Amino acid sequence: MPYAHITGWGMSVPEKILTNDDLSKIVETNDQWIRERTGIRERRIAKDGQTSASLGVEAALKALQVANLRPTDLDLIICSTSTPDYIFPATACLIQDQIGATKAGAFDLLAACSGFIYATNMAAQAIRSGSIKNALVVGTETLSRFVNWKDRNTCILFGDGAGAFVLQASEKAGGVYSAVMHSDGSGGDLLALSAGGQGHPFSEATAQENGRFIEMDGKEVFRFATRVMAQATLEALDAAGMTIETINWIVPHQANIRIIEAAARGLKQPMEKFIVNLDRYGNTSTASIPIAVVEAVEKGQLKSGDKFVMVGFGAGLTWGALAAEWTGPLPSKGQFYPSQYRALGRVRSLVRRIIRFIEGIIFRREL
Ligand code: COA
Repeated sequence: MPYAHITGWGMSVPEKILTNDDLSKIVETNDQWIRERTGIRERRIAKDGQTSASLGVEAALKALQVANLRPTDLDLIICSTSTPDYIFPATACLIQDQIGATKAGAFDLLAACSGFIYATNMAAQAIRSGSIKNALVVGTETLSRFVNWKDRNTCILFGDGAGAFVLQASEKAGGVYSAVMHSDGSGGDLLALSAGGQGHPFSEATAQENGRFIEMDGKEVFRFATRVMAQATLEALDAAGMTIETINWIVPHQANIRIIEAAARGLKQPMEKFIVNLDRYGNTSTASIPIAVVEAVEKGQLKSGDKFVMVGFGAGLTWGALAAEWTGPLPSKGQFYPSQYRALGRVRSLVRRIIRFIEGIIFRREL
């Protein structure tokens, strides 16, 4: 049975920074309160035209470059997002088109902030079953578009960004060892963005209501998060036949430093073992774990051969954890240039649209 190795990684965040001081000019809050209650100092905000797909494309191309894999070698793209560009087509298909991954199947997965763990697990399972060889997993969000900038309970927390992994099959032992996924829909109302679906369709009325924004019971979400983080970590380790002592790093969902500290206490592990970067990005939902992983690799913290756990929780309610060994790029031939493929992807997409247009005229005549 092949192993599923993480061989490429990339991230992309908007340039625009919104600091706590900036927020204090919009709502009644202050830097000290936000830092002490959440650990967040600043977050990134997408500019006009920057979307979950465009951030996802940037992260995906960087991940492919690290793996030195051409987009045309991809068999599968899973995009985890709660803020898709459209209800459909899937954001995964927009990414597939823009990077020119012509042989890949593509779909979106919505498990909120736990989504990247779910998506990485799904891609790893497809590789381990032998049905595919190369997969791209993207976690991308533009939550700032759904934040109520008058609600100080929520607007201080969230930011925008994207992260991506390339997963590849190899007979060499390593990569993703195990994962656990959980849900409890009875807590769906604790963290929700309700307008836009069939349960609460968009209308002139919803445009005036809070339903079009993220709504959250912060205290209950906090209580849920501190309960499940340590539990899910231990479950994933148990499934992999590993123990917490043998783990080099824990990469938690970057929601609130106090939640991470509670998980550290629950696991009886030092905070030094936890990768934390929420001070600079806030909660980027499904993108928070891959962004933290990419920065940990770039800083030289997470190294080839290190064992680590990614653990997250979010709306749904959902939660999960994944235990893995960090691999690094597999040996490969040739050199992949993302900018070239990006341009090629654009041309290919345009050519396909023109061909479809011409075929449409011809076939309409024949009907
Ligand atoms: N600035 C200043 N004061 C604020 C504030 C802000 N941004 N937000 C709330 N307050 C005030 C409250 O009004 C309250 O005042 P009061 O005592 O006079 O009523 C006080 O600060 C305490 O508020 P409380 O809601 O009890 O704070 P908290 O310690 O629970 O922190 C959260 C609030 C949202 C930071 C915290 O509950 C949390 O992080 N929850 C989890 C959220 C999360 O992770 N969501 C994403 C999941 S993926």
